[in-house]
Amino acid sequence: MKYEGVIFDLDGVLCHTDAFHYQAWKQAAEEAGIYFDEKINDRLRGVSRMECMEIILEKDPERMTEKQKRDFADRKNGIYRKLLKNMGPEDVSEDVSFTLMYLKSAGIKLAVGSSSKNAGYILERLGLDDLFDQVTDGNDIRNSKPDPEVFLKAAEGLGLLPKQCLVVEDARAGVDAAAAGGFECAGIGDAAAYRKTTWSLKRVSDILML
Ligand code: BG6
Ligand code: MG
Repeated sequence: MKYEGVIFDLDGVLCHTDAFHYQAWKQAAEEAGIYFDEKINDRLRGVSRMECMEIILEKDPERMTEKQKRDFADRKNGIYRKLLKNMGPEDVSEDVSFTLMYLKSAGIKLAVGSSSKNAGYILERLGLDDLFDQVTDGNDIRNSKPDPEVFLKAAEGLGLLPKQCLVVEDARAGVDAAAAGGFECAGIGDAAAYRKTTWSLKRVSDILML
């Protein structure tokens, strides 16, 4: 590999929490009498928790006070955290596991760059908490993707420049963040077909060819 470090997005790249996010938002929304569907959920990828609230309430932005929005987001997070208890090391795919082990043994530095404030807990559940040289998440940043802050801080934590690192992302907002920070970016899933993606992946292990 030509990169000295790889910065992985978490949700949608190393693991799949989409269904849990959906269930939690859906339950919280139903309790509050707010419409929510999978199409809205798809638009929340890579977006910080409070920015998700703006998208969920975009048809009726005045509906909640700032305090009510925070309470609603907290309620969703409580439901989400309970669902995360269902996750374990068996939820890391063989492809992801092989890729991480291979890169680690090749001496490539590894980081997580995630918008989630639950990243530490998720990595613990997956048994990946000791593997990364740097974890930068929603607790460490002021500006969420598409701002490059999370990836710039992750690269800094690795002691590398953006051009020395590859970012791996599944969300368009994440690809935009990588591009804005001067990183090359490998896109998977929804991000694979995005024009700003440097490399399109079918599976995470495709990055081993780069
Ligand atoms: C991102 C997810 O990783 O984290 C988003 O793709 C989510 O969908 C965001 O909204 C924030 O997550 P959390 O765990 O802090 O609520
Ligand atoms: Mg993601």
